[in-house]
Amino acid sequence: MTRRAKITIIGAGNVGATCAHWAAAKELGDVVLLDIIEGMPQGKALDLMQSAPIERYDCNIVGTNRYEDTANSDVVIITSGLARKPGMSRDDLLAKNVEIVKSVTVEVARHSPSAVLIVVSNPLDAMVYTAWKVSGFPTNRVVGQAGVLDTARYRTFIAMELGCSIEDITALLLGGHGDDMVPLPSYTSVAGIPVTHLIPKDRLDAIVDRARKGGGEIVSLLKTGSAYYAPAAASVQMAEAIIKDKKRILPCAAYCDKEYGIGGYFVGVPCVLGRNGVEKVLEVPLAPEEKAAFQTSIDHVKELVAQAEKLLGH
Ligand code: NAI
Ligand code: 2OP
Repeated sequence: MTRRAKITIIGAGNVGATCAHWAAAKELGDVVLLDIIEGMPQGKALDLMQSAPIERYDCNIVGTNRYEDTANSDVVIITSGLARKPGMSRDDLLAKNVEIVKSVTVEVARHSPSAVLIVVSNPLDAMVYTAWKVSGFPTNRVVGQAGVLDTARYRTFIAMELGCSIEDITALLLGGHGDDMVPLPSYTSVAGIPVTHLIPKDRLDAIVDRARKGGGEIVSLLKTGSAYYAPAAASVQMAEAIIKDKKRILPCAAYCDKEYGIGGYFVGVPCVLGRNGVEKVLEVPLAPEEKAAFQTSIDHVKELVAQAEKLLGH
């Protein structure tokens, strides 16, 4: 009998606990939820287990403060860290979250040396770089979640504008997980129809702008933290693609060296996600203004990584 997949989620706060919820509901495997706060992950895990007879999912959900319980995970989703409050940018979280992501990655890598890491903590592009450096894992087994969430926001706003089903909208977005991310109307379609044929330019520009600032819009409404339902759904979609070896093509923060001429950074690009993590980065032609916007976003990622490297002592 083959064993169930094992998914560990580090950080049992808003994003982490919601990841556990989606992963269990999808029966992706057994779930371990770890946090530094004593009792909290245990309580949330027990509560989720007690939902199983009602929602009818078969998996074990364990809450813990001990890395021994995470041993030999197939996928580890790292959500530990501070979340932003109104008036803060994702970048304001850098110093504290480098420290947290560094310390948890050491333990994760020691106990699950074959896992694929999905990093969620912010500022995302610098945190995925941190996890890669600290884990010593090959680049294909470290990936960041940003693009699945950011395209989901963009697709939601397009569906709202057209009054059509979200199912028929596919879209692509490049760059870092900052307000300079690059949604691409030229690679956005509605049931195969280019979106530019359906939405006038001024409205599309407004949708692109809203998608870029989508995280901040939720922070200013919530006031006490940042979004978590869609971020967790996005992270679990990536975990599902890996665990089921689906070869999904999803926008993720993947390591790019020669790809797009990026030179060794994790940046949002379309990837094939399967059992081995990032199995391929897809390169697509870009118009000059798209290239320029992508470069601005890459430059921002490079600045954040330089700050993270200083903090890591590299
Ligand atoms: P939260 O504050 O609800 O949860 C964070 C949890 O991490 C807390 O329970 C805390 O105790 C735990 N934690 C802190 N240090 C730890 C350590 N050393 N070991 C284990 N656990 C530790 O925050 P939330 O809303 O869950 O957000 C988590 C992170 O994800 C933030 O950095 C946030 O900015 C980021 N985020 C990223 C998104 C993305 O698209 N990449 C989307 C949404 C959030
Ligand atoms: C978001 O985009 C805060 O990065 C998080 O909602």
